[in-house]
Formats: sequence, structure tokens, C-alpha cells
Amino acid sequence: MLDTRTGLDHATVEDYIRRGREHLWIHTQQENELAQDDAYTVIDGGEGIYLSDIHGRRYIDAMSGLWVVAIGHGRRELAEVAKRQMEQMAYANPFAYATMPAVDLATKIAEVTPAGFTRTFFVNGGAEAVETALRMARQWQYNRGQQKRYKFISRIGSYHGMTLGALSVNNATALNKTPFEPLLPGTLKAPAVACNGCGETCLPGCETPAGLKYLEQLIISERPETIAAFITEPISTSNGSVVPSKQYWQTIRALCDKYGILLIVDEVINGFGRTGTWFAMEHFDVQADLMTIAKQISSGYAPIAAVVTTEKVAEGFRGGPQDAFIGGSTFGAHPVSCAVALANIEIMQREHLVENSAKVGTYLTTQLDELKSRHHIVSATRGIGLMQVIEMKKDPAAGVEFTPDDDLSHRVPRLLKENGILSRGGASIQVAPPLVINREEVDELVDGLDRTITALEAEIGL
Ligand SMILES: Cc1ncc(COP(=O)(O)O)c(C=O)c1O
Repeated sequence: MLDTRTGLDHATVEDYIRRGREHLWIHTQQENELAQDDAYTVIDGGEGIYLSDIHGRRYIDAMSGLWVVAIGHGRRELAEVAKRQMEQMAYANPFAYATMPAVDLATKIAEVTPAGFTRTFFVNGGAEAVETALRMARQWQYNRGQQKRYKFISRIGSYHGMTLGALSVNNATALNKTPFEPLLPGTLKAPAVACNGCGETCLPGCETPAGLKYLEQLIISERPETIAAFITEPISTSNGSVVPSKQYWQTIRALCDKYGILLIVDEVINGFGRTGTWFAMEHFDVQADLMTIAKQISSGYAPIAAVVTTEKVAEGFRGGPQDAFIGGSTFGAHPVSCAVALANIEIMQREHLVENSAKVGTYLTTQLDELKSRHHIVSATRGIGLMQVIEMKKDPAAGVEFTPDDDLSHRVPRLLKENGILSRGGASIQVAPPLVINREEVDELVDGLDRTITALEAEIGL
């Protein structure tokens, strides 16, 4: 029998799942776990905040894919833009020529990024942007005669991507880097922004004066003349979306200035309205030197990312041919991706989606707070704009965490799906819907989360 929405019969659906299991390598998933009943999801449709699978089931895309789809799914306008650009000119050598879409997008990025960011270097994805920013920082130091500055500082708990350079500055707790060692030498670990609010007594690195003093001591003990750059997310999703204070960020900027260290902010998740401002650093009134951007730049309608720099950084690459930045890739500044990204940003401006993220994000915060009051196991809800997280513990009052035996990494995504939601879930659930979401859709989302947590409590017997 044919499914009325997908038009697919049962045999075709089964065949997709069989061939997918046989040939498609899904990122970071364990094959034998996907063999479990109903664990294999093939997505084939999307409209607004919803995605649907080949069985014809509809879900709220509660993580915007991977914090990507700002303008929502199913925008035919972007398909038209891609088609027009492909028909006019699909590709030109980015090592030699500019194209009109690349110029237009670079101009638009200079308009929407904080003042001072003027020059954009396009690449294909977030990790490549991080990789490029790291190399740019090293070569910038090299060009100004600081050849010994090769080290990078990054924060514990931060995620920056999977290429070897990005992996070296990656400190996400769940990520096992051991199989890839040795990684880049000289990657220094600064403690995270907050360690569960344990105040002045907590490990240095949280926002306390003691933490910031520790960071300065780290720089001094490693010798500042060996450090190229400090890289971090303005607000780290991989580290619980804790929003740091302005004073924290301003101290980091001051330390970088004092010791000649470049400040790279990784806005790959935060950027393009996710936190209720165009870029998250706007919350802190701090100007970075380099910024990595990706994901929402195109809402996922085409792959593209970039490093955006200030004149201070760009100036370091002017002079003779030996001063030019050594970097580039075949598909960097791809005309079709640039045209699509530009149209995406124009939609964000036209529909005031950054303002919507701030406004509906505030409503989402209040709804998640209420959800927390209804469920004993919800230990915290946190975030800013449409970048929120629900954290759960077995017994929050006694500080008892869930254990691997509770199997939350499988249970929670399954229960979310059963309740009409797609998101990443374990002991924490990411709540980051497309920026087009409205209050009624937030209510529908929070109802689904409520049912999910109720079902979890019942399954575990809490
Ligand atoms: C903050 C941050 N930086 C970099 C990356 C890497 O981006 P990509 O997966 O596009 O390589 C990610 C991916 O989620 C990210 O969250």
C-alpha cells in the first residue's frame, strides 16, 4: 500500500532502510545499534519547523538539524536562487577569480557582523573554518616576526570540529581523541566558563577572579611569546550553554591584548541569530580578531562556512607574495553556496528572524522553567535565545547522576521521537528549534518534551 504523503510503498521503504544499513556511513553512529528496530530514520521531507520521514511520520526539528536551519525547511525561494546561479555560472577557480555571489555575500557579511569585521575567507564547513583560522593565526604571527608563536589555548568542554587541527583544540568531554594522538603540539587547556556554580572554591577557569588569574598564570608559565591564539565559543553549547558575564569576556580580551595573542571566536553555532543577536559576541561588547562562521549562514540549503577577520588581521597578510595567506580549497567561495547563503541572510533580515529568536527565546525560557517545576528529574534549564538545554539528574537534590545502565543515550532520542520530536538527547536535551518558530509551536514543542520526560520517568521508575 502507498503512503499518502510520501507516495512510497512498504517494499520501497524497506529497501531504502536495507541499502542504507548496508552502504551509508552515518556520522559517529554505531552500525549495530542502528540495526535495532525503528532506530534507522530516513528523512525525506521538511516544512517550517517540521521534518518528516519515509514512513510519513512528522516531527518537530528541535535542534534545527544541527543548529543549522534558521529559516525553516522547504523554502522554495532558495531552490530558485540555486537553480538560477547554476544556470548562469556554477563554478570558477577560487584561487584566481572573484565571482559576483562571493563578492555580494562578503559584502553582506561585513554588514551583519559586528563593526570591524571587514574581510571574509570562504570555506566549506565549520571544522575547515576552525582549521583555517588556526593556520591564519599562526601565519599572522609568523609574518610579523613572531615565528615561535605556535601554541593555541582553548577551553575545556568546547567543541570545534573533527579535522586534526580542530580536534586538537577540541576538549568536549564526550569526545575520545586517543585514537588520533599525537595531535597538534602546544594546545593548552583553559578551564571552562563555569563548573556547576560551585563559586569561589571551584576549579579556576570559571568566571571568578581566581579563574581568570589562573588563565593568566597559564599564559605566563607557557611563555606568551610561544602562544599564537586563544580560540573559544562565545557561549559553549558543548559545555552546557552557560552564558558568561561581560566582565569575563572583557578580561579575556584584555589578556590577549596584553600578551599579543589573537582572539578567535567560534560562532559556528552561536552566529546568525541563534542567541538572539546576529552574533553572540554582541552580548559582551568585545571585538575578536577572527571569527569562524558556518551552519546558519546558509540554513543548510548549501554547504558553506567562513573565517571573518578584522583589518588588523588582514593587514598582516599584505606586502610581498611571501606574506599572502597560504590556504584555499577547490570548493571555497562556491558561487551556488554563496548565492544561497546571501538569499538566506536576506530572508533573515526581511522576516526579522534574529528579533524573533530573542523574543520567542524568552518565551521558551519561561516555558522550560515551568517544565522544570513539573519534573523532579530536571535539574536545570539554561540558555539564551533559541539555544537552550534541559539537564536531568536521577536525583538532583542529592546530586545523583544517571549512569550508563540507565541507557539515556538511547532511551531519550527514542522517547523524543515517539513524542514527535527530533533532537540530541541523553542526560541533557538540546532545545534549539529553527528561528522561524512561533509561540504556538513552542507550546507544541514543550508539550512533546513534557510527555517525553514523563515517559522517561515511568520507564526508569522514578
Ligand atoms: C562550535 C563549533 N565549531 C565547529 C564545528 C564544526 O563544524 P562542522 O561540523 O561544520 O565541521 C561545530 C560543529 O558542530 C561547532 O559546534
